[in-house]
Order: sequence, then structure tokens, then C-alpha cells
Amino acid sequence: MIRYFSSSGAGALLLTALAACGGAGGTAPGGAVPSAVSSTSDTAAPTACDAAAGLATLDATKVSLAQSYAKLFKIGVAINGSVYANRDPAAAALVAAQFNRVTPENELKWQSLERQPGVLDFAQADAFVAYAEQHGMEIHGHALVWHHQVPAWVFQNAAGGQATREQLLERLDQHMSALAQHFGSRVQYWDVVNEALNDDGSLRDTPWRTILGDDYLERVFLMAGKHFPDAKLVYNDFSLEKPAKRAAAVQLVQAFEKHGVRIDAIGTQSHFQLQSPTLEAIEASLSAFAAAGVEVLVSELDVDVLPPAYQNQGADLSLDAELSAQLNPYPDCLPRDVAEQAARRWAELFEVFARHSDHLHSVTLWGVSDKYSWLNNWPVRGRTNYALLFDRELRAKQSWQRVIEAANHTR
Ligand code: G3I
Repeated sequence: MIRYFSSSGAGALLLTALAACGGAGGTAPGGAVPSAVSSTSDTAAPTACDAAAGLATLDATKVSLAQSYAKLFKIGVAINGSVYANRDPAAAALVAAQFNRVTPENELKWQSLERQPGVLDFAQADAFVAYAEQHGMEIHGHALVWHHQVPAWVFQNAAGGQATREQLLERLDQHMSALAQHFGSRVQYWDVVNEALNDDGSLRDTPWRTILGDDYLERVFLMAGKHFPDAKLVYNDFSLEKPAKRAAAVQLVQAFEKHGVRIDAIGTQSHFQLQSPTLEAIEASLSAFAAAGVEVLVSELDVDVLPPAYQNQGADLSLDAELSAQLNPYPDCLPRDVAEQAARRWAELFEVFARHSDHLHSVTLWGVSDKYSWLNNWPVRGRTNYALLFDRELRAKQSWQRVIEAANHTR
């Protein structure tokens, strides 16, 4: 029922050695992967692989994302122990210099906090909060109710069968209560429910839904409101640019309002590709959520530059395709034309976000550098992706520079 993916890239080396850098730049993914689709750069002539060409010329020690966007919205980043536990001091310093809000990539998920019933381990979460507070950053808690990274016992009764509705509600109440007592109001935003909708707008089948029933979102938000009166309560999901899913999220907000259930914001994850979704679809969602009367957060932004392994892959963690050279065409560095495409995409995205700054609270990147991106291991393990604004050596990329320049255009 619950699937995890490993961060190990076993088998990657042999296969990536087969792909000449830049040579596979325009190759569509192979037929070995079921429902594989064409690369976004199918028709582009491949250009040489040149790591330096993708780097910023502006000095990233003198200008920051957070400062550049200070008048528009906050700029956040998802971090792990490399940053908050200072295992990578340069990354920790970079985050402190460039960002003004943080989301823990995994540390506030149920699996990280309460593996055994009632045994709470806040060691990592506390280190995360301490890092954020030391640097005066806003904290985004992620995530109270999700169908991944929840220990099996949460949904089970003593005999290993399915827990009852009352049992599950009681466990959730106790879990939230423990978090509320521990953190008080130090967490300013909470993803209360994460990824409860399918792309067609229907409710996703999860153990939460099966056990609690179709009205579980309202129950969960009411509970969160009781425990976290000072925090902003967020519904967070991916692919909210798809019309049916967008409409379902808007309906959710409207139903909550009708029933007097507090919901403060929609987090639109924004795991994007080079050409998809369209800027128009992104704008339509930002406008629709603002019109529904809630704050909007771009909560998990990245731009996947690799050939998609699946059609409509969204961010569904159950997808797991086999590694192939075609699906991992840039093992050494990104061809110049793809780096340029990515930089243009990042600039255009931030131009859109800037236009919606009145109701956009923040834009959070899902990782500080390409090295730490989840997209190196999803939906294919062991790939080399280039999904963020700093490269594997933490150097600012052209994409970073174009984002900074996009802020200047709006002044
Ligand atoms: O903590 C265990 C560790 O004990 C174990 O030894 C190791 C072995 O692989 O795994 C560790 O857990 C991993 C965890 O990250 C912490 O590193 C899981 O296997 C791995 O699946 C997990 O991946 C995370 C993924 O969510 C699944 O929960 C990614 O880091 C994280 O970036 C990703 O984030 C999600 C958001 O929460 C929701 N939206 C989509 C986004 C991207 O998938």
C-alpha cells in the first residue's frame, strides 16, 4: 500500500557511461519503458556539453533570491540534514544567504517523528527548527496527513487488520497534539493534507479515505485548526494546473467555507517540466485559487529537464521506471541548448509569479542544488537531473541569474 523509493543509484554508473555527453541531447526515451513519451527537446539539434556555459555571470555572494523578491513574496527551499545539521556547511551557508523560508524535506512527516506508537523523536525536527530560527526564516511544516511515509501501525488494529475510524481519528489527534505541544506556534504554515486528489478531481484512494470516509479532509482540517490556532493551514498538491484537479481544489475551499472549516492556503507544488504545464495553465490556477479567497503558495518548485518516463507523470511516487541511457541523457553535464531552455523556463515562471504577487505568499524550491534534488531518483532511480538553481558544486546557474533578472523587470 505504501511505497518508498530508495535514494541509491545502483546500476546507474554502467548505463550512464554508455550515454555520450550531449550526444543524446535530443533523443526520445526508449520503448523499453511502457508508455514512455517523447523528450521535450526532440527536434532540437544537440549542442555540446559545457558545464561552464550554464553558470551565472552575476556574483551570487552579492545578490540573493530572497532580497531580490523581498517586495513580492518570500523565497523558500526544502532542506535536509545536509543543511540544518551542517553536514554540507557550504550548502547551509548558501541557504542562509539566498532564502528566507524553509520546508523540511522529510523531518516532519509521520514516519520521521513517530515510528512507534506514542514514541516521538524530535531530534532531527528540532535541529531543522533551530537552523531556521537561527537565520530568521519562516517555517513551513510538511505534512500532517499524507499517504506516504506513514508507519503501517497508524492504519492497523492490534491484530494487524484495519484500524477503525475512531482509532485513526484518535491517533491523528494525539499526533497533532504532540506536535502542537512541542512546537507551539514556531511553525507558521502547516500542510494539513497532502495530495488527496487524483488528476481527474476525484478523491485519491488512500488509507485515510478508506478508514475515515469521504469527508475526512474537513475532519482533519478542523482538528488541525484546534491544535494549531496560530498557523496557516494549507492544502498541498501537485498537477493543480490540470483543469479538473484545479476545479476540485477550488470546490474543496468553497465547501470548507460553506461548512465553517478553516483553510488558509493552497500549496501548488509545481513539479514542472521544461514545457509543461503551459504558462497559461499555471496562471489560470494561481488566479483560480486567489479568486477562491485563499493565499497561494508555490510550495515545491523544480524544473525536470530529463525525458519524461511516463505521460502525465505529475509527482506520484508510486511510479518507478527502469534506468536506461535514453532516460538519462546528460550524465556529465547539460548541453548548452537545454541549459538555455531551462534558464528561459525559470525566468518565465518567475515573471508569472511576479504578476500574481498580490496573492502569492511564497515560492519554495524543492531542494537547494541539483545534487539534492529528488528528481535524480524519480521516476527513475539513479539519473542525473538539473532541476534547480544551483549546480552540484553549489555554483549559481544561469537559471538563477535569470530569476534574479526577472525580479528586476518587475520594478
Ligand atoms: O529515512 C530513511 C532511512 O532510514 C533509510 O535508511 C533510507 C534508505 O533508503 O531511506 C530513508 O527514507 C527516505 C527519505 O526520503 C529520507 O531520506 C525514503 O526512502 C525516500 O523515499 C524519501 O524520499 C522523499 C519522498 O518525498 C518520499 O517521501 C524525498 O526525499 C522527498 O523529497 C519527497 O518529497 C515529496 C513531498 O514530500 C511531497 N510532494 C512530492 C515531493 C517529491 O516526491
